[in-house]
Amino acid sequence: MAMIAAKCPDIDVTVVDPNAARIAAWNSDSLPVYEPGLDEVVRAARGRNLHFHTDVESAVRAGDIVFVCVGTPTKTYGVGAGRAADLRYIESAARMIAELSDGPKIIVEKSTIPVRTAATLLEILRSNSRRGTFEVLSNPEFLAEGTAVADLENPDRILVGGERTPSGENAMATLVDIYARWVPRDRIITTNLWSSELSKLVANAFLAQRISSINSISALCEATGADVDEVANAIGKDSRIGPKFLKASVGFGGSCFQKDILNLVYLCEHFGLPEVAAYWERVVSMNNWQKSRFTQSIVQTLFNTVSGKRVAILGFAFKKDTNDTRESAAIDIARGLLEENATVVVYDPRVSADQIQRDVLGAGRSDPRLLVARSAEEATDGSHGLAVLTEWDEFRTLDYAAIYSRMHKPACVFDGRNILDRRGLEQIGFKYYAIGKPQDE
Ligand SMILES: NC(=O)c1ccc[n+]([C@@H]2O[C@H](COP(=O)([O-])OP(=O)(O)OC[C@H]3O[C@@H](n4cnc5c(N)ncnc54)[C@H](O)[C@@H]3O)[C@@H](O)[C@H]2O)c1
Repeated sequence: MAMIAAKCPDIDVTVVDPNAARIAAWNSDSLPVYEPGLDEVVRAARGRNLHFHTDVESAVRAGDIVFVCVGTPTKTYGVGAGRAADLRYIESAARMIAELSDGPKIIVEKSTIPVRTAATLLEILRSNSRRGTFEVLSNPEFLAEGTAVADLENPDRILVGGERTPSGENAMATLVDIYARWVPRDRIITTNLWSSELSKLVANAFLAQRISSINSISALCEATGADVDEVANAIGKDSRIGPKFLKASVGFGGSCFQKDILNLVYLCEHFGLPEVAAYWERVVSMNNWQKSRFTQSIVQTLFNTVSGKRVAILGFAFKKDTNDTRESAAIDIARGLLEENATVVVYDPRVSADQIQRDVLGAGRSDPRLLVARSAEEATDGSHGLAVLTEWDEFRTLDYAAIYSRMHKPACVFDGRNILDRRGLEQIGFKYYAIGKPQDE
């Protein structure tokens, strides 16, 4: 929404959320989301044609176009628990919009939702509103956290789905015209509603599948003496495969991949396609296996016991350049090490101590074996091993010789993102483990 406001000064954009603390942060100098370049985009438009407030109802009443961007987490209860999307926020937003509308409105699904949610939305809107008339469009968001501003500025494509009726086509044209202010028309695709809804789930499933595919091969590389980065480079040169998203790692995280694949799995089961469901579910189970394999490697390398030992975790966000920790691999690794009775000391340049404690232990809990440090040096002092779990640039250039001198020997590095200089570390004296690397080099 900030990007639309920045690119279209004549369009009034109001972002509303009942969460007052979040809205206050959006109106402050310290935005609740860390994204490179976001401060500038928000500052360009805030107070001009971009407003943040908590009065959801008046903004919905006044809006000609309402973007529904509410959360669609994995359901934790009842039918489909652990897989299906929880649509209660979508449904309550639809009921509120229906009640408050007394003229024509375009409702845009921006949240990631299961296929055919637009039908539910339309039914709720049309059967609950006395004077409102509605067109529902699907406009999934393809930005990646960490590069969100660049992705929005220069998207690979914009997808708009709508009903193939005259009023549906008109609504699509209205939204397309907004994006066309800065996105070339040939990158704006229009489809029917269901293709658009499904495309978002399928895009995330394909992306996550590439990560699980290369991660599965990383285990084979370790067993055979092949080097996964060399394999990835060799296969990525094939133009049919391509080089992107082939980096082996401790596993994918983030709020979207796992949730959206599980949602796809649930949909396949719902539509009587258990073979398709099982195929995609393996992408998630491979990711879980990779995370537990990494924890086991730490334990094995530290002589099969970490009990009473100190292990530093460098990086807690699920990827660099974001403060988002949802489904971060670091959560599972920290929990796995605590289960083995290690002391775990975490450092992340952008994630607060509160967030780390909450993610690993649950709200309001504490454990003397889980510590949060304010620097990589503080985290690693007196530790037996250090694990790099987020590819923050600053971890590439730490003074590892100084760090080594203050660690227990043999000091071990576990490179969960394959970003460090192996030879340099081994020359210092570190024992080095990285995903998919020959162990005896
Ligand atoms: N985070 C991403 O990078 C990303 C990328 C693409 C798509 N998506 C999708 O976008 C959606 C939102 O994701 P998110 O990461 O921003 O989730 P989030 O949980 O961080 O934010 C959702 C917000 O919606 C607010 N909300 C709930 N009901 C509301 C209502 N009736 N009116 C106004 N606000 C309401 C909540 O208070 C919350 O602040 C999800 O469907 C997600 O899959 C997210």
